[in-house]
Amino acid sequence: MEVLNDLDGEVVNFYRVCQAHYEELVRYLKFALPSRRWFLIHEKTSPESLTDIQRAARYFYIQKNAYAGLVRRHNYGIHVVQRLRFSATSVEEVIRRSHKRLENVQIESLPYEEILKRYDRPMTLFYLDPPYWGRSLYRYNFNGHDFETLEEWLRGLRGKFIQLGQMQMRRLRPGGCVRSDSIGLR
Ligand SMILES: C[S@@+](CC[C@H](N)C(=O)[O-])C[C@H]1O[C@@H](n2cnc3c(N)ncnc32)[C@H](O)[C@@H]1O
Repeated sequence: MEVLNDLDGEVVNFYRVCQAHYEELVRYLKFALPSRRWFLIHEKTSPESLTDIQRAARYFYIQKNAYAGLVRRHNYGIHVVQRLRFSATSVEEVIRRSHKRLENVQIESLPYEEILKRYDRPMTLFYLDPPYWGRSLYRYNFNGHDFETLEEWLRGLRGKFIQLGQMQMRRLRPGGCVRSDSIGLR
């Protein structure tokens, strides 16, 4: 069984709508065009005022049209040479593939500690992609202390884990098989 978790409710709502209301989401976005004006309107709209489908569409539209896909400090991204990241014709395919991928996935929105606690079994494989060291790119970010706490949690796991690209995780299992750029299996 597979579980996907992110503390950010917008991310989780998007995945949930892909799972449960894929056709509606595609229909909602089918005729959307990249536009600075639309981008600003979406930006100003509070997600709480929207239905889950509108909220997922807003999230997708903003992420695809924001400069470098940044989650915080959105700016409308312009393209001079490169192809646009948002195109109405590819929306259906992108969402269809997400829907297919998520068909049998349980979606959670909890602090990662809860997930480690609830799902840890000797046969579990955790794939961790925490926020980047020293950068506030997301709604929820990690400071040095958070990485130390994560390290403690990983030490105590019964299952296996893969930790993505964090140089600071080197010390995790001295003499073990933790590599600077990611894998911590035992
Ligand atoms: C590097 S991103 C992962 C992105 C995701 N793997 C992807 O490919 O789209 C880090 C994610 O960690 C989430 N996050 C931050 N603090 C968290 C916490 N305490 N528990 C669970 N998720 C958290 C953020 O919301 C952010 O989406």
